[in-house]
Amino acid sequence: MRIDIISAVAPLLESPLNESIIKRAKENNLVEIIVHNLRDYGLGKYKQIDDDPFGGGAGMVIRPEPVFTLIRELQAQRTYDEIIFMTPDGEQFKQDMANELSLKNNILILCGRYKGIDERIRTLITKEISIGDYVLTGGELPALVVIDCIVRLLPGAIHDSESAMLDSFQTGLLDAPLYTRPAEFEGMKVPDILQSGDHEKIRKWRNDEATKRTQERRPDMLM
Ligand code: ADE
Repeated sequence: MRIDIISAVAPLLESPLNESIIKRAKENNLVEIIVHNLRDYGLGKYKQIDDDPFGGGAGMVIRPEPVFTLIRELQAQRTYDEIIFMTPDGEQFKQDMANELSLKNNILILCGRYKGIDERIRTLITKEISIGDYVLTGGELPALVVIDCIVRLLPGAIHDSESAMLDSFQTGLLDAPLYTRPAEFEGMKVPDILQSGDHEKIRKWRNDEATKRTQERRPDMLM
C-alpha cells in the first residue's frame, strides 16, 4: 500500500510516522508513506498557498492552484483509489471505514488548514473524513489517526496476527479486562479463572466481561 499526504505543516507528521508500528511496517515494505509539502507548490516569491475569502469573513482559505498542481502531478504517476480530505464536515471515521481503506493500494490524503479550502478543490476529492465532532487546527492529526488505524490492520503489521481482528469495534464488543504479573498487587488479585488453564472457561469469562463492560459503557453498540 502507498499513502501520499499533502500538508502545509509537514513537520507535524514526522515523528508519529517514524516510530513504533508504523516505522516497522514501512521498514518491512507493508506500506510506503510519502509526505508532500504544499508550500513547495505555493505561488510567487512568498510561496503563497492561502488567501482571503471572497465575500469577506475571518480566516484564510487554501487556494486551488497549489493543490490542483500537486494532485495532478501525483495522478500522472499512479491511480488513486481514494483522494481523501480531512475535514470536520466529512463522514465520521469508524472501524469499518478503516477496514475498507486498509484494502486499497493507493490513497492520497489532503490535510486542511486555516479556515478551509476553496470549494473548487472538492471536485478532486472522492471522500471526506471527520474523526469526530470537534474542530482541530488542521487535518494533520486526524490524518495520523486514520493512517495509524489503517496501518495496524495490514497483514504482518502487528506481531499477533489475530489481535487486530479481536479488537474492540471489530468484535462489536469492548475489550474484557486484562491482567499480567504479579498475580496479586497491593491486595488486588487477578481473577482465579484466568490462572485456571481452562481455555473454554476463560473464553466464556472474557466474553461475559466484554458484554458487561459494553452494556455499562456503550449500550449503543449492542443495539
Ligand atoms: N480538521 C479539523 N478538525 C477535523 C476533524 N474533526 N476531523 C477531520 N479533520 C479535521
